[in-house]
Amino acid sequence: MVSAQQVEFDRAQPDVYGDAHPKALLKAIEEDGELLHCLENKHIISADHLDKSVLVQLFRLAAKFESNPARYSSPLQGKILISAFYEPSTRTRLSFESAWHRLGGDIMSITDRSSTGIAKGESLQDVAEMFNNYGDCVVLRDTAIESIEEMISSLRIPIINAGNGTDEHPTQAMADLYTIFKWQPQLLQPESEGFSPIKIGVVGVPSQMRTVRSLLKMFVHFPEIVDEIVLIYDDSVADAVDESQLAQLRDVGINITLSHDLNASLPSLDVVYINSIAWVGESYETYGKSFKLTSCSPLKQGAIILHPLARGEELCTSLDNTTHNWYFSQARGAVFLRQALLTCMVQRSSAVMDVV
Ligand code: CP
Repeated sequence: MVSAQQVEFDRAQPDVYGDAHPKALLKAIEEDGELLHCLENKHIISADHLDKSVLVQLFRLAAKFESNPARYSSPLQGKILISAFYEPSTRTRLSFESAWHRLGGDIMSITDRSSTGIAKGESLQDVAEMFNNYGDCVVLRDTAIESIEEMISSLRIPIINAGNGTDEHPTQAMADLYTIFKWQPQLLQPESEGFSPIKIGVVGVPSQMRTVRSLLKMFVHFPEIVDEIVLIYDDSVADAVDESQLAQLRDVGINITLSHDLNASLPSLDVVYINSIAWVGESYETYGKSFKLTSCSPLKQGAIILHPLARGEELCTSLDNTTHNWYFSQARGAVFLRQALLTCMVQRSSAVMDVV
């Protein structure tokens, strides 16, 4: 039964949930809106394909949206997003749709492939051909790794990979980096006095978790901010680490340590990224059952925790009201990051670059 007191609530963002500073990020990055034009009509499939200087400008535009959301209400007016999610999603689907709505666009949403011609055996190429006629941009989440590649050959509008099986989730990784830079804007100013590269713990299975895979690929673009990445995974998981991905990180000079002991690693970590769920085939798997973060964990003072969510037992709710909790800020910031990306992809960045 809901009590009379519970009916009253405070709509303000609680301070304890990671106090992000989008305005500090605006100051740390010199604006160069011209760079964002290269995102026009570009597909976003893998974190590999992204460019560092463009990402930095994207983070700046996201910080503009976040600093002053009311200023940008209609740049996507007249544009239609096709939101196709064939796998469960709370954050990605709703934050993409929220981002598009907040910018004045219209949306067509498909949440079940069996409600389309795919149920009658229609090919993904033919579905993509139809999407060209109906929308201006597609966001796709699919259980199959190859679906997005199958559609690209027929698409003449941009598509965003919102999670393709165990492969990648590049906009999640963009949102993760955006959060890290809001937490420490000086990471974008290596020449500044306060600059100090960070030690990052990644608790998860890179070969199975698309969020982890894309995040590691994202760090390849920013090796100077990383002192060390500690990959923490359960040694009972076969082929947990993809050797080619480790090589990709080492090639840009990032130090990698492999660990099976979370608590031994925690005291030295500045950022702890944790995930336990991977979508494999038609359902999910849970990994690393022995790894749990709680408010009693030996976390470094000032360390932040990131989690793509949904959470399981690995992330105790006792951390929610601590300053380590940046995972809610991470999920909230994803809306602004996606606003920035979508605006650029459908050629409306000029409409927002002039707004100060
Ligand atoms: N982070 C993420 O991908 O969450 P959803 O599965 O809820 O979209």
